[in-house]
Amino acid sequence: MAYIAAIDQGTTSSRCIVFDASGGIVSVAQREHRQIFPRPGLVEHDATEIWANVRAVVRDALAQASLSHADIAAFGITNQRETTVVWDRETGEPVHNAIVWQDMRTDALIKQLDGDLFRERSGLPPATYFSGPKLRWLLDHVDGLRARAERGEVLFGTMDTWLIWNLTGRHVTDVTNASRTMLMNLETLDWDPELVAAMGVPPAVLPEIRSSAEVYGTHEGVPVASALGDQQAALFGQTCFAPGEGKCTYGTGAFLLVNTGDQPVRSANGLLTTVAYRIGEEPAAYALEGAIAVTGALVQWFRDKVGLISSAAEIETLARTVDDNGGAYFVPAFSGLFAPHWRSDARGVIAGLTGYISRGHLARAVLEASAWQTREVVDAMNADSGVDLTTLRVDGGMTANNLLMQFLADVLDVPVVRPIVAETTCLGAAYAAGLAVGYWPSAEALKANWHKAAEWEPSMEPAARDRGYRKWKKAVERTVGWMD
Ligand code: G3P
Repeated sequence: MAYIAAIDQGTTSSRCIVFDASGGIVSVAQREHRQIFPRPGLVEHDATEIWANVRAVVRDALAQASLSHADIAAFGITNQRETTVVWDRETGEPVHNAIVWQDMRTDALIKQLDGDLFRERSGLPPATYFSGPKLRWLLDHVDGLRARAERGEVLFGTMDTWLIWNLTGRHVTDVTNASRTMLMNLETLDWDPELVAAMGVPPAVLPEIRSSAEVYGTHEGVPVASALGDQQAALFGQTCFAPGEGKCTYGTGAFLLVNTGDQPVRSANGLLTTVAYRIGEEPAAYALEGAIAVTGALVQWFRDKVGLISSAAEIETLARTVDDNGGAYFVPAFSGLFAPHWRSDARGVIAGLTGYISRGHLARAVLEASAWQTREVVDAMNADSGVDLTTLRVDGGMTANNLLMQFLADVLDVPVVRPIVAETTCLGAAYAAGLAVGYWPSAEALKANWHKAAEWEPSMEPAARDRGYRKWKKAVERTVGWMD
């Protein structure tokens, strides 16, 4: 059994990547699913469509490499985090569309929660982002659901749980996904009875919390042997195993995670305290996280809703038709603002417009938004840790954009480095599954698989950087108060 298959159930698509023992990619299959926008600020997925897509990509990835299940030593799972599903224990039918992490319908609810209690125990500020409030919303709004939940007839899960239940019949989650619910105690790594009660959730619906790397069950005879939220998986795939090591992944949103070792570190600057991973019975590793809701999603929006480009790759070509942003700044607060602001009342703005602004300037402003947002979370990370970041490891789809990566190095004033295998999310899930079944001997051995593919050095004049950042901050100020 020569390979590991990782399933990445992401916000816009589901993928399966088969890896060999050197961490090299053998085959890749991918399918997009529908984004359902019932009203402004609401985002849903069809969990049944996602499960069908996952089965299809596994089949396709194996077929491409002429493999059968017998060739696979383990499946690893990684997933968009916080997206919430509730389904019937008997029929497996979801009771409602999945509520996606970007969805803001829980805005009124989170204002009623005791922020200090949740921050202290779960490491998270009450925000529409997390899965616990989404579960509570379903219990309050789907007819008869609370009574069914109390009778143990329905199950709650994030996408890891939904997939593992469908693959193996087990109702489990891992510590990283559980750490995004607002219901898990960061010290005990178990559901916190007080938080569960404060959220108004019947404990019977909750899955069992397990480590990120162990055999949860089998599918077609293959052990399903890891589960990690996608951002934690990318941290693991980048082999950031030592305190102080971190990465930023650019997908739908961007997520900067720094390993803080075996103790949770509280943020005084708007970052999240979260579990990085737990390998079997070893102590958990924790992380500080700067979560940015919209980066790649802005490029997608610019393509699909504005129509100024026809493919995501074209944004770089269009942006290169001009030398700078012409004074335009785009703050994509489509789901409010996440780190370090946590403003659910924020909405997107384009600031600094004049008649001079062309399509090219707008394309620049779209790209630059990802870099300026990263600058804000790096500032918060530096302030929390007291130590300044010296290099940024990056991965994810947007790192193919050289203009953005150079601008990122410029505004952070540190080198930006990308590894050869930029598919670090799947790789991290594969690593964890491989460790669980003894396919790889130790985490340390995996470090040898990390090789630098590209590096961007900062080259911007400090005065230009400071001027740009001041203007960005002014544009951010203009996003708040739209819901008054
Ligand atoms: O917390 C949300 C995050 O897990 C989503 O990641 O890559 O699907 O945008 P991605």
